[in-house]
Amino acid sequence: MTGPRILIIGANGQVGTELTELLVARHGAHAVVTADLLPHGCRSDVEHVALDVMDMKALSDVLMRQRIQHIYNLAALLSANGEQHPARTWNLNMGGLLNVLELARLQHIERVFWPSSIAVFGPATPADMTRQHTVTDPTTVYGISKLAGERWCAWYHARHGVDVRSLRFPGLISWKARPGGGTTDYAIEIFHAALRDGHYTCYLDAGQALPMMYMPDAMRATVELMDAPAARITERGSYNLAGVSFTPREIADAIGRRISDFTMTCEPDFRQSIAATWPRSIDDSLARRDWGWQPRFDLAAIVDDMLENLRQAQKVD
Ligand SMILES: NC(=O)c1ccc[n+]([C@@H]2O[C@H](COP(=O)([O-])OP(=O)(O)OC[C@H]3O[C@@H](n4cnc5c(N)ncnc54)[C@H](O)[C@@H]3O)[C@@H](O)[C@H]2O)c1
Repeated sequence: MTGPRILIIGANGQVGTELTELLVARHGAHAVVTADLLPHGCRSDVEHVALDVMDMKALSDVLMRQRIQHIYNLAALLSANGEQHPARTWNLNMGGLLNVLELARLQHIERVFWPSSIAVFGPATPADMTRQHTVTDPTTVYGISKLAGERWCAWYHARHGVDVRSLRFPGLISWKARPGGGTTDYAIEIFHAALRDGHYTCYLDAGQALPMMYMPDAMRATVELMDAPAARITERGSYNLAGVSFTPREIADAIGRRISDFTMTCEPDFRQSIAATWPRSIDDSLARRDWGWQPRFDLAAIVDDMLENLRQAQKVD
């Protein structure tokens, strides 16, 4: 198999674990290098480097030594954790991205992927079918860092021709790796709790709708965006991306139809006040038009697949 030499930074996290698997399946283990603060990677057949994305010299050395052509920068502190550590979140989310963009410019990296988030939106943003270009008034440090990051991506592309591509991920649902401290983590925790305890205490209001996406859809969107010819990419900040939208009540009901005695109660905490500022649904027509985006998983398909895979994983454990 031939293809680009790929570096995935923040590869041990919820997204990185699955992106590594997908890129190895497409390009071969020899094409991929994973990097994270943690000394060991998620796969034994893939070369892993312990790397702090804030260390520009170390990052530069890895890019040169490994002859990297594509970078996926996933290292970040997420929305809920970010509110507990505001300075660290700003420094990591901004500093890491700026190191990647600057080295992409200096070392002529062919392509960069960096995920933004629906957290760029805020209380004054129209919450239903939120458009690509609209009010962006984030209230979290995480959202502020993502919005600034989008503008830096657009600037590096316009000023220096860096081929950086980005998606505003909604809440991502997956069973392979645990979530990393975001506001939408409940939509994963609820499955583990349903199978373990038959009950879940949700930290959001039962009626709080949020945009969500199943991880296989998010990973397919990532590679489809990265495969698209540069001329098709008209948005160099970050693309709106939609999968499904649902409330805690709706996902609990869907689980309850499959696990008959499952119950959920709600005890909203500070994360509810973050969720209340985010869109309920997203208009992703630009992604559909530019590079043909189409989600595949609806809520019923997500619930079926999550339960099946988590039950299998329990048997293996
Ligand atoms: N998971 C979601 O629902 C979601 C939604 C929207 C956007 N995103 C974005 O996707 C990206 C990945 O998110 P995730 O859910 O996998 O996060 P995560 O917290 O699960 O993983 C982040 C990884 O980055 C690593 N890391 C932290 N600091 C680092 C540093 N200084 N140098 C190198 N590595 C470092 C961590 O060890 C961890 O393995 C982030 O940019 C996040 O903002 C995620």
